[in-house]
Amino acid sequence: MTMKADDRPRWPWRCPDCGAALEEGDGGTFLPCPLPCTGCGRPFTREEGLADLRPAAAKARLQRFADEYAAVRRAEGRDAIAVADLRALPWPGPQTPLAWEWLIRAKSYETFLDHALRPRLAGGAALRALDLGAGVGWLSHRLAWEGCHALALDVCADRHVGLGAARQLVDLQGRVADDGPATGSVTLALADFNHLPLADSSVDLVIFNAALHYSPSLSTSLAEAARVLAPQGLVVVLDSPFYEDAAAGRAMAAERRAGFMKRFGFASDALGSVDYLTRGDLAQEGLAAGLRWRYLIPHHGWRWTLRRAWRRRRLGRESAAFPVALAERL
Ligand SMILES: C[S@@+](CC[C@H](N)C(=O)[O-])C[C@H]1O[C@@H](n2cnc3c(N)ncnc32)[C@H](O)[C@@H]1O
Repeated sequence: MTMKADDRPRWPWRCPDCGAALEEGDGGTFLPCPLPCTGCGRPFTREEGLADLRPAAAKARLQRFADEYAAVRRAEGRDAIAVADLRALPWPGPQTPLAWEWLIRAKSYETFLDHALRPRLAGGAALRALDLGAGVGWLSHRLAWEGCHALALDVCADRHVGLGAARQLVDLQGRVADDGPATGSVTLALADFNHLPLADSSVDLVIFNAALHYSPSLSTSLAEAARVLAPQGLVVVLDSPFYEDAAAGRAMAAERRAGFMKRFGFASDALGSVDYLTRGDLAQEGLAAGLRWRYLIPHHGWRWTLRRAWRRRRLGRESAAFPVALAERL
């Protein structure tokens, strides 16, 4: 990967439709937009200023998912976050919507940071990290603080609860906008993690952050992750619900869909997502993609342990766990 004078990497884009290598237009900004594909002729347009690299064949379905997803997130009050609180994530401020949830998420992030990211950064090289299902971009912002060059990809451009919100976190060169020791960068684009618009073996970290359970096919998502992963790279799954008993996962997903149907009139399942993970499924699909998993267990504290026990009793089934899953190439 070549580096420019401002040290923001030029990402090795490839066409999500035909796989041809793409030339980057608008170089020097964190919102690059590739030039038209020389393979299939597709021009790349923008939404909310973000280059749209979603696959043409799946675009209508992805957009329906994104619209429903954004409607649900807004109804949950997640759009009411101040820029200062957005910049502080995953650590919540007193005004952060759903702060209790962020307290749990911060523990997952800290576990990943201490046991996976910082040891890898200790060698001094800037890592290239893919933040898949990046949402408002908080993880990419943190990765840049740690010195990584992050590429935040999502299918949802919404300016409050989707990738559009991440524009508040970075300047025109893709540097994090607040003062501090950040040496990395953030690049933003719309893309589907099942059709990654990147060349093979081009990134050091592939991170699904609260996102892998939205996949309709673990085998496709993990094969794509493995394709773009450099030989010594790491795939990371953060904050996806894991169940030991798949029946408990299915029950959770059915309740969730019924709840959405009742409240919004749609089930918010336009992608046919798997909705939950099991270690067994991940082992099997990982093996097929040439990946082997290990797990870190964040310490969420006694309140979380009590809450899980109480939920188990109330629901009469297992409630989800949120381990940090790490995979290297076999
Ligand atoms: C629960 S949110 C997590 C957002 C963010 N990573 C975070 O931790 O707050 C899941 C995100 O995954 C995105 N997503 C779902 N399916 C996707 C796909 N196939 N490709 C890219 N993003 C996807 C959604 O649009 C959403 O922003």
